[in-house]
This record gives sequence, C-alpha cells and structure tokens, in this order.
Amino acid sequence: MKDNWKRYVFAILVFSFFAFSLHLYSIKNFEYRKGYNSKLAQNGELVWQKYNCQSCHQMYGLGGYLGPDLTNVLSVNGKNATYVLAVIQTGNKQMPANNLSEDEKTEIIEFLKSTDASGVSDPKSFVKQVNGMISKDGNGN
Ligand code: HEC
Repeated sequence: MKDNWKRYVFAILVFSFFAFSLHLYSIKNFEYRKGYNSKLAQNGELVWQKYNCQSCHQMYGLGGYLGPDLTNVLSVNGKNATYVLAVIQTGNKQMPANNLSEDEKTEIIEFLKSTDASGVSDPKSFVKQVNGMISKDGNGN
C-alpha cells in the first residue's frame, strides 16, 4: 500500500506521546501543589481564588494588572500582616473592601507568607523546565 508510511508516522507519534508522558510523570518532584509551608497556606490559596484577588493582582508576575504583584508584599517596605489585612478589610482606591472571616484572614496571610518565603517574583529570572513549569534553578526548586 502506498500510504503505509502514514501508519508508521502515526505509530511513531503515538509511541512518542506515551514515552514523553511517562517521562514527565516520572520526573522527581513533579507536583503542582508544592511549596506551601502549611495546610493553612494551601487553604489561603483557595481564599485568594474565592475573592478573585488574581483578577487584579499578580502572583509571580501572573494575574491581573490593576493592582501590584503581591508575591512578596509581606516583606516589601516593612509592610506586614496588619497592613495587608487592613487593605483587604477597607479596600484601597480601585480595590473593593472584602469581608473575610477570621479563618480566611489567617489563611490568606499564611498563603502570602508562603509565597513570600518561596523567593522573589521576577519571572524573567526563572528557568523553564522541560514540562513547561518554571523553577529557580532548573531542577524543580
Ligand atoms: C478590583 C481589583 C482588585 C481586587 C479584586 C483586589 N485588589 Fe487588592 N488592590 C487593587 C489595587 C488597584 C490596589 C492598589 C491601590 C493603590 O494604588 O493604593 C490594591 C492594593 C492591594 C494591597 C496593598 C499592596 C501594597 O503593596 O501596598 C494588598 C495587600 C491587596 N491589594 C490585597 C488584595 C487581596 C488579598 C485581594 C483579594 C481578597 C485583593 N487585593 C483584591 C485592586 C484589587
């Protein structure tokens, strides 16, 4: 059959797909949810999503651009948890006031502590990995 080569190409593509998938999932530390200091911090990300903070703020340079990047907000210019909670509670210029519960307040602060401890937020300094994720040193860290 003159179209046999197409079958070979197809077979090679299918094989490559499975081989690459196998490779990706066998990479050590390949995990989406890592880097949180605690369960509270992980819940804090859900609070962050629930109140749509990412529609106006960036994390690691990604997100909305109406407000500033908040990856390192807790360590910039002496800003602390009290300041952050005050801004969330009262709003600020274009930022709406958000009425968080006490638990949500604790969790979002733990989330921000965790992102702050994870490094700096300039994505240009990150290394792209083979699986499309980014890391600080190219080894998943
Ligand atoms: C509608 C857009 C919008 C949403 C949604 C929003 N913010 Fe903001 N936020 C802003 C803007 C704009 C500013 C900067 C205001 C200014 O110029 O002083 C800001 C400022 C802040 C600041 C102060 C940053 C600094 O460096 O002084 C913090 C902290 C903050 N927002 C946290 C949050 C959190 C947490 C959420 C989710 C609960 C959130 N924001 C949701 C628009 C938003």
